[in-house]
Amino acid sequence: MDMDYVRLGRTDAMVSAVGLGCGGHSRLGMARGASNEEAADLVRRAIDLGINFIDTALVYRTEEAVGLGIKGHDRSKLFLSTKSWVGKGGAESSPEPFTPAEFTANLESSLQRLGTDYVDLFHLHGVSHDQLDYAREVLLPELRRHQEAGKVRFVGITEVFRYDTDHRMLQAALPLNDFDVVMVGFNLLNPSARKTVFPLTLQHDVGTLIMFAVRRGLNGVENTREAVAELIDKQEIDPALINPDDPLDFLRATLGIKSQIEAAYRFCRHEPGAHVILTGTGSAAHLEENIASILAPRLPAETQEKLKLIFGEASSASAN
Ligand SMILES: NC(=O)c1ccc[n+]([C@@H]2O[C@H](COP(=O)([O-])OP(=O)(O)OC[C@H]3O[C@@H](n4cnc5c(N)ncnc54)[C@H](OP(=O)(O)O)[C@@H]3O)[C@@H](O)[C@H]2O)c1
Repeated sequence: MDMDYVRLGRTDAMVSAVGLGCGGHSRLGMARGASNEEAADLVRRAIDLGINFIDTALVYRTEEAVGLGIKGHDRSKLFLSTKSWVGKGGAESSPEPFTPAEFTANLESSLQRLGTDYVDLFHLHGVSHDQLDYAREVLLPELRRHQEAGKVRFVGITEVFRYDTDHRMLQAALPLNDFDVVMVGFNLLNPSARKTVFPLTLQHDVGTLIMFAVRRGLNGVENTREAVAELIDKQEIDPALINPDDPLDFLRATLGIKSQIEAAYRFCRHEPGAHVILTGTGSAAHLEENIASILAPRLPAETQEKLKLIFGEASSASAN
């Protein structure tokens, strides 16, 4: 199957509609003990399958594997994305922030691990609403300096979808128009970015990277049942509209949809405003399946309508 390439907003870069996510719960299989070399094999496989968008981060500890995997490939044909937290404790609490010098050291260390002298995209990683002012006022000017020096082509920002399920940070950041690309959580259990984020990214021609398309909450019936039970408890969805034991059974009953995972990736891919769908896996077989899902046609109109009816107003699930 031939890869599709999409324009990543105002970066004007043509990138694969499927992005290799090197973090998440799998970290290219390294979370389950895969070696750097095995993880690098997955990167090579992804490139062979037409993926040119690769997303990693200092904290994922997969940059070295990505560096190994891209060795020997034409660097100019790849679009590498990496990131640094804004604070030393990540996004978990109100952490001590990185100074500009520490932030720069993180960037230099990423370049070294990736074995490259520039990245296409550098993000302020997992920024909470509370951290946004510091990120913009103190760290963004530092990042601009690196942009001028040619170490970073474009600047991005990623939200902490686990806590910021209704996108407070991105709703505040996007109108300020500082970022070329944003990474946003979007999935069929929480499509709220449709109302609050994509109208702004489309208005400002900002590229979008979709994370949490599947995550845990959609990767098996049991996990989905739990995630949906929470939505019912919070009165965000009407239990009369679903089978609580197997909430997405109707997707698998739809002709041409093999699994809820396939449906979850297809759901994201065809959303107006969604550019790159990240898939995070440690398995070559899953990667191939997921590419086929992301490249498959949009879900049937009646299925989309049903999903909208059930989950259209939900905004508290991340599917983490
Ligand atoms: N704030 C941030 O900046 C942030 C946060 C989260 C994620 N991200 C980025 O987004 C990327 C995507 O991460 P995600 O967690 O959102 O990924 P995802 O693609 O939504 O979910 C991946 C999970 O589903 C499983 N899976 C994938 N394909 C499968 C298949 N065909 N069959 C069964 N299980 C399957 C994976 O396990 P297997 O390994 O078994 O396939 C993994 O546990 C990350 O790698 C990272 O680059 C960024």
